[in-house]
Amino acid sequence: MKDIRALTKYLAGLGYGSRKEVENAVRRGRIGGIEAGGKNLAPPFEGVTFDGEPLDPPPGMVILMNKPAGYTCSRADGGQLIYELLPPRYLARTPALSTVGRLDAATTGVLLFTDDGQFLHKLISPKSEIPKVYEATLARPLEGHEGEAFASGTLMLRGEDKPLKPAGLDVTGERSAHVTLTEGRYHQVRRMFAAVGNHVEALHRAQFGPLTLEGLAEGEWRILGADDIAQLG
Ligand code: URA
Repeated sequence: MKDIRALTKYLAGLGYGSRKEVENAVRRGRIGGIEAGGKNLAPPFEGVTFDGEPLDPPPGMVILMNKPAGYTCSRADGGQLIYELLPPRYLARTPALSTVGRLDAATTGVLLFTDDGQFLHKLISPKSEIPKVYEATLARPLEGHEGEAFASGTLMLRGEDKPLKPAGLDVTGERSAHVTLTEGRYHQVRRMFAAVGNHVEALHRAQFGPLTLEGLAEGEWRILGADDIAQLG
């Protein structure tokens, strides 16, 4: 009986329902895969199923999404929230799932989520040197001086008192470029182009460290495996 309590607590933590709701689910036979003698009734409850499906990943989950435009990286703002694209029970998990930093509502591309607070802080720490690559479409043609300004390590954003770390600029067209950042300040790419007299019309994050959107259409997501997670450091 003690073991079943451990399982109901675990399932409640994964967002399958309140402890009471999960206990009811057990009574109704919705939980399967429990081995003889309850051998697998300990984390991570290997082989246990809920409604015939394998259980969601244990805490330490990391998700990679191809974020569509129009979704806010918030749990509470008005409008469409990015969490609406994930199974509702992911929102009820403890520890809670958060986005790794934010993308503006209009920005598309690589967005990570995790429920691992330590990993999250490591990824968003100013000390993290993980490169993120953005594809920017601009309102006006590039003039040729932007790359030097971005790489200088002295570029200041309006309202800030600390210069930006050097950033990379690869020109891909008259009004388009890839920008590589190793930090993540508020609206950073848009404000960088504003600082050099341009305006970002569209912004897409193509890469976060080694991770790309390969195989993921807009709005799709996947749970990262241990290898992907290890690559992030
Ligand atoms: N820089 C921006 O300006 N916006 C984003 O969403 C990400 C980086």
